[in-house]
Amino acid sequence: MLGTAFLLLNGLLILLLLFTFRTRKKNEPPLDLGFIPWLGHALEMRNDVTKFLARMKDKHGDIFTVRVAGLYVTVLLDPHSFDDVLNDNTNSFDSTHIRGQLLKQIFNLQLPGNYPTSERKWMEPHFQGLNLDRLKTSMNIHLTNVMLKSFESCSPSEWREEGLFELCYSFLFRAGYLTLFEMKDDVAAIYEEFRKFDNLLPKLARSSLKQEEKKMVATSQERLLELLSPKCLNGESEANSWQQSYVQFLQQQGIDVDMQKKAHLLQLWTTQCNAGPAAFWLLSFLLTHPEAMEAVKSEIRDLLSLQDTSLQRHHLNWVEGASTPVFDSILNETLRLTTSVSIRREVVQDKILRMANGKEYRLRRGDRVLLFPFLSPQMDPEIYEEPEMFKHDRFLNKDKTVKKEFFKDGKQLKDYILPWGAGKSICVGRKFAVTTIKQFVFLLLTHFDLELCNPDTKVPPFNQSRFGFGMLQPDGDLQVRFRLKRTQPEI
Ligand code: HEM
Ligand SMILES: *[C@@H]1O[C@H](CO)[C@@H](O)[C@H](O)[C@H]1NC(C)=O
Ligand SMILES: *[C@@H]1O[C@H](CO)[C@@H](O)[C@H](O)[C@H]1NC(C)=O
Repeated sequence: MLGTAFLLLNGLLILLLLFTFRTRKKNEPPLDLGFIPWLGHALEMRNDVTKFLARMKDKHGDIFTVRVAGLYVTVLLDPHSFDDVLNDNTNSFDSTHIRGQLLKQIFNLQLPGNYPTSERKWMEPHFQGLNLDRLKTSMNIHLTNVMLKSFESCSPSEWREEGLFELCYSFLFRAGYLTLFEMKDDVAAIYEEFRKFDNLLPKLARSSLKQEEKKMVATSQERLLELLSPKCLNGESEANSWQQSYVQFLQQQGIDVDMQKKAHLLQLWTTQCNAGPAAFWLLSFLLTHPEAMEAVKSEIRDLLSLQDTSLQRHHLNWVEGASTPVFDSILNETLRLTTSVSIRREVVQDKILRMANGKEYRLRRGDRVLLFPFLSPQMDPEIYEEPEMFKHDRFLNKDKTVKKEFFKDGKQLKDYILPWGAGKSICVGRKFAVTTIKQFVFLLLTHFDLELCNPDTKVPPFNQSRFGFGMLQPDGDLQVRFRLKRTQPEI
């Protein structure tokens, strides 16, 4: 008995030493273990990942390996060199294992090994071609209904006050939900539970929930699973909504009913958590930058003057297909400033990473690789002048054409923003998302008067805990007042 305990202890000690005494081998990236055994830099990284990575970049350059809670993570910050990770053709990197762990942790979801590939295959056509057109039209109708209906009982001159984040998130969630999912009656309840769940999601993913928060998340999750529960399909019915089609797909994959429900919650989150916050940031920048607001309004004015039938104008069909370089530039500038994805891979066999400058680094099997495009390219002062500033025409040339040439070290960048992730898991809904945000902003600006309650307010800061999870969210809100215009559309 004592002997076993002694052996175990010895084993643990040796393991601890092994982990603690990793040394940098020839041709490996600079290694930074941090002072705390095993944990390494985990705490600093959790508190403020951007600041931590910026500090390490100053110390070590564009590539380095840090210890984080027992893992060795090689951070790559040179956007010219992302390609060798994202489009690696030697099968040295894997993302499914990491993704699987995250889905288990957040959604308690466990899916078969080949599932991600088949889901992706099923998903892609739903956001392309005719299906995409159908989704856009449906979204357009739902947005118009949701927004205008909520004002039916108000007299035209009546101002309403609300937080802009709440406003954008609730309108886009409702319309988005009605477009993809079926149950129409419970949308208000679903939205409410969803927000509670979404608010705690980063903490859930990092296992840093407090006791009472754990209870809150569990309750919200349970309620959502109940509310989302797909109706049974009888054999004859055609799948005519996205959700029905998804149920059929899950059944074909042999996924049991319990996991089907959890998969629905995952899809609710991936499809609804980004567009609302994105619209919020975009409108915040417009409201606090009068020259940008005027530029968008002038673009819309020109588009409206080209339209003749008021029916068409009312339903926003004119937004689609119209060329809107000013809006597009503003959207990209917003995404540059407010999206922060972590692109993670596991190194599954030793790999020589070739950097754009010709240097080669050895990556060890079992380590992780992290790309963090928020730091570079998105906030890189070598690429963007005054990167922390919002400039509405940053992505426009002088002749109002799209600007796509951005440089670092004298070389043109292939990707100069990465709001949609990259590689195999890049956002499948990105075209739909762009149209949705455009429809929403144009509808809001042409049908409502919208202004800041206090003209001196600034755009709120980021909630630090959402770095690495995609779209950032504000810490606080921006109070606005708005009312229906007397005649619409008008600008
Ligand atoms: C501004 C809005 C949006 C942003 C910034 C965004 C961003 C992203 C990112 C970064 C990922 C990759 C996550 C990963 O690496 O695992 C992703 C995945 C995904 N997005 Fe979006 N997204 C947006 C809107 C939407 C919308 C409106 C939809 C659909 C209605 C959508 C559908 C999806 C789906 C289905 C995936 C999963 C793809 C996969 O697993 O292969 N997204 N999104
Ligand atoms: C916005 O960024 C995307 C890449 O995310 C690019 O394809 C598109 O051309 C950009 N549009 C503008 C107006 O810069
Ligand atoms: C910031 O995010 C954390 C964790 O996700 C959440 O608990 C907190 O309420 C958020 N803060 C605000 C002001 O929303």
